[in-house]
Amino acid sequence: MQEESRQEAVRLQKYIASAGLASRRKAEELIAQGKVKVNGKTVREQGVKVDAQSDVVEVNGQTIAPEKKKYYLLLNKPAGYITTTSDELGRQTVMELVDDISARVYPVGRLDAETEGLLFLTNDGAFANTLTHPSHGIEKEYLVYARGVMMPAALNKLKRGVALEDFTTKSAEVELIGIDRNISTVKIKIREGKNRQVRRMFEAVGHEVLYLRRTQIGPIMLGNVPLGKWRHLKKAEVQRLMKL
Ligand code: URA
Repeated sequence: MQEESRQEAVRLQKYIASAGLASRRKAEELIAQGKVKVNGKTVREQGVKVDAQSDVVEVNGQTIAPEKKKYYLLLNKPAGYITTTSDELGRQTVMELVDDISARVYPVGRLDAETEGLLFLTNDGAFANTLTHPSHGIEKEYLVYARGVMMPAALNKLKRGVALEDFTTKSAEVELIGIDRNISTVKIKIREGKNRQVRRMFEAVGHEVLYLRRTQIGPIMLGNVPLGKWRHLKKAEVQRLMKL
């Protein structure tokens, strides 16, 4: 059994549910009834965490194993949520938005706390690796509201690549959608994913990013998933992403 703060730990009732044995509510009942043992000891309190790799969980005397089922979620992340499985400072994380999934999913890549939009979560390491490995260079599209009137020179710099402190960005697709009251709306597609890359690119050409939303990863669009909600990716969508 693990300390609350350990990242790999999962709540006992969630672990039992992910083994397909019972709903979480039923799992809580089983725990309260003293029917659950962790490493040979009966556990009656709720909220105990276990490590799926090392702890042995028994229900009614039978050792259980979590389901190997793979999950692929598409979340529309709101601003104000950190992309991590746990945060030492107690800030809100994207995990709170997918709380209704019993499997131990985790985010694929990262969006800044202030950035909204498309974020995948999965429990499939191969899928996460395919999408995040720099060698695959998967295209990501962002919608940007930037301060100021963006002139062709600034837009062309973004297209050709801009020198940031630690690297020069590769060529990008950039489209000015419109300008309204000193705010430029721009669509940008990049194939890299360095820390705060889009914000830093715009700052480098003199325009602060006021709002940022990821709208597409490879062929998959954010679509009309409401802010803060998620949907399962379809099998065909997962297959398309794995082929990129
Ligand atoms: N670029 C950024 O600046 N922030 C993000 O969250 C993603 C891309």
